[in-house]
Amino acid sequence: LRDAPRRQAETLAAPSLDLTIRLRRNRKTEWARRLVRENVLTTNDLIWPMFVVDGHNTRTPVASMPGVERLTVDQIVRDAERAAKLNIPCIALFPFTEPALRDAEGSEALNPDNLVCQSVRAIKKEFPDIGVLCDVALDPFTSHGHDGLLEDGKILNDETVAVLVKQALTQAEAGCDVIAPSDMMDGRIGAIRDALDDNGFGDVQIMSYAAKYASAFYGPFRDAIGSAKTLTGDKRTYQMDSANSDEALREVELDIAEGADMVMVKPGMPYLDIVRRVKDTFAMPTFVYQVSGEYAMIAGAAANGWIDGERAMMESLVGFKRAGADGILTYFAPQAAEKIRAES
Ligand code: PBG
Repeated sequence: LRDAPRRQAETLAAPSLDLTIRLRRNRKTEWARRLVRENVLTTNDLIWPMFVVDGHNTRTPVASMPGVERLTVDQIVRDAERAAKLNIPCIALFPFTEPALRDAEGSEALNPDNLVCQSVRAIKKEFPDIGVLCDVALDPFTSHGHDGLLEDGKILNDETVAVLVKQALTQAEAGCDVIAPSDMMDGRIGAIRDALDDNGFGDVQIMSYAAKYASAFYGPFRDAIGSAKTLTGDKRTYQMDSANSDEALREVELDIAEGADMVMVKPGMPYLDIVRRVKDTFAMPTFVYQVSGEYAMIAGAAANGWIDGERAMMESLVGFKRAGADGILTYFAPQAAEKIRAES
């Protein structure tokens, strides 16, 4: 028994494997790991989604998204400034609409003075060089919380598209750079492209939420825009079934044919295979949305001390790059940009 430790050491020291190839050589030092690194996340890859709410000089935390706040228009401008200073190319705007302003048709979406339009004008006035992306869908504005018009429990497609076209024009008129339809109605990209072109907005880009899945990961977002409690039923008749992959390619193909300049896959982490297929198949500018529930998982676990939040954030973001994404919509945008800056 006394010999046991010695015998064990002898066995371990004994034969070395006759390996020509040892992959660990390239991982041995930090400089070598940096040298062979295949993917890099830069601030150019980030789009920062923000929530706008009525009022003045107020920032209200979103309970299910630790670190994310709803901002009044003046504060949105301050965060746009922060984005510009961090060299983040683009921000995305989502409104929390007062319940009193919501109706069955989502008519506040067409108000040229709604929170999104006010924000676009205020941001563009002070920071004309930052990209501003506006979501096109009716859910922040409807009393039933759906992205389209509802009749007898059904979401009407073509009637909804007619309203979305008007919403897109309203946002373009306010100065929005990128129209991002997230509604998943059939034919909306072509209809919006035609309307933009016919109304002097030929330069306005379209990023289509092309492969958007019906997902449980949107929960915290619906808290943030106040549609969680109002939503009746679910969105499965227009958003995609999470089991499907070929169907995502059909969605993306159609949106490209209808005139999308950029396409998006959403959510992100559970759909990295879709990102890869889309990028390989179409070679389009391809984006991915790391949605509210993904943010909440990482930020929530980190807040509890269960994971290293900063490392998990950076790992998840470079994972999108590895999967083929050209850019990422993420609530981590400012933190990631600060981390990238600190390391460079
Ligand atoms: C609206 C929209 C949603 C998100 C972006 N645009 C929610 C939904 O479709 O229910 C989700 C974003 C997120 O969860 O971060 N159509």
